[in-house]
Amino acid sequence: MNICIMGFGAVGKGVAKVISIKKDELKKKYGLDLKITGVSDSSGAAISPDGLDPNLLLEVKEKEGRVSQYPEYGTDNLTGLNFLEKVDYDCLVEVTPTNIDDGEPARSHMLKAFKDGKDVVTSNKGPLALNFRELTEAALSNKVKFKYEASVGGAMPIINFAHDTLAGCNFESIFGILNGTTNYILSRMAKEGSAYEQTLKEAQEMGIAETDPTQDVEGLDAACKIVILANSIMNKDVSLKDVYINGISKINQESILLAKKEGYLIKLVAEASDDTLEVSPRLVKSGTPFSVDGTMNVATLNTDLAEDVTVVGRGAGSIETASAILSDLINIWKS
Ligand SMILES: NC(=O)c1ccc[n+]([C@@H]2O[C@H](COP(=O)([O-])OP(=O)(O)OC[C@H]3O[C@@H](n4cnc5c(N)ncnc54)[C@H](OP(=O)(O)O)[C@@H]3O)[C@@H](O)[C@H]2O)c1
Repeated sequence: MNICIMGFGAVGKGVAKVISIKKDELKKKYGLDLKITGVSDSSGAAISPDGLDPNLLLEVKEKEGRVSQYPEYGTDNLTGLNFLEKVDYDCLVEVTPTNIDDGEPARSHMLKAFKDGKDVVTSNKGPLALNFRELTEAALSNKVKFKYEASVGGAMPIINFAHDTLAGCNFESIFGILNGTTNYILSRMAKEGSAYEQTLKEAQEMGIAETDPTQDVEGLDAACKIVILANSIMNKDVSLKDVYINGISKINQESILLAKKEGYLIKLVAEASDDTLEVSPRLVKSGTPFSVDGTMNVATLNTDLAEDVTVVGRGAGSIETASAILSDLINIWKS
């Protein structure tokens, strides 16, 4: 299976790393020979129909900052749709940055891949939260596969789990802690009694929160994820604009300590049900699955047959997120 990777940051590099680690095992276990025939970042590309060496790609990106410096097969300024024209691939791994204004350029990359009869695997929330129906219908009408497990909860299995393992169930509601950054901040505030601003600053220094943390702390990231879950698991037709969003920036030490005294924690909870699509700070009982610490994610699926099913896992990280992308690639191969 020939794959091309668009975006070679934390997740793209994680994909190259897991392919390098698992290559022989994948061949033995599934007969799957994953070949990276092209990689692009924001300034150029490396393309070879015979396959690029994942370790050399990582080395070049680390040393030179650009994949176009890959010996012999690197090209400056070949990006976006032009890159997709040139590369020979079966499946696009779309891992460029999330854009929640118009979903671009990832939306166009994916639509082109579908039109050209290629499968797509992505971790990119933006286009899924804004254009879910457009993308899934384009995949369907072009008879190709479209998988996006990594877009919600990183390594926490939820979308394929609901589609495959809980295939016979209907989903009545989903509750989740879907943003690791805010969970980390709220966990530390509860544990240490620290103030919001100071805890956010420390999270930024540790690389857990972005320099511009708006999307996380104002609840937009979690809102994108609950939209993806509502559409893909509950068969809704909703978009980011349909979510009632309230972030954590107004949560203070006093309210956290008061909640703690009564045996509760304050968490940023995303909910999708028949009459609610919401992200807001809520009280959760200490000692329940929703009292997860740090950057962990958790979600409970309320089903008609199996009642509540709860999953917990790492919501982000290079290798962790790449594990979800790899499982999508394997499932495409197996099907
Ligand atoms: N990091 C996580 O743990 C995680 C978890 C789940 C989902 N995600 C999602 O996965 C995606 C990738 O995340 P990330 O953390 O890997 O981001 P990142 O570290 O910021 O890397 C983004 C990569 O995309 C490249 N890029 C930017 N514009 C491009 C374009 N037009 N064409 C091709 N490449 C382009 C960048 O190029 P340069 O290297 O040249 O700057 C960079 O290599 C995002 O949508 C993110 O929301 C991330």
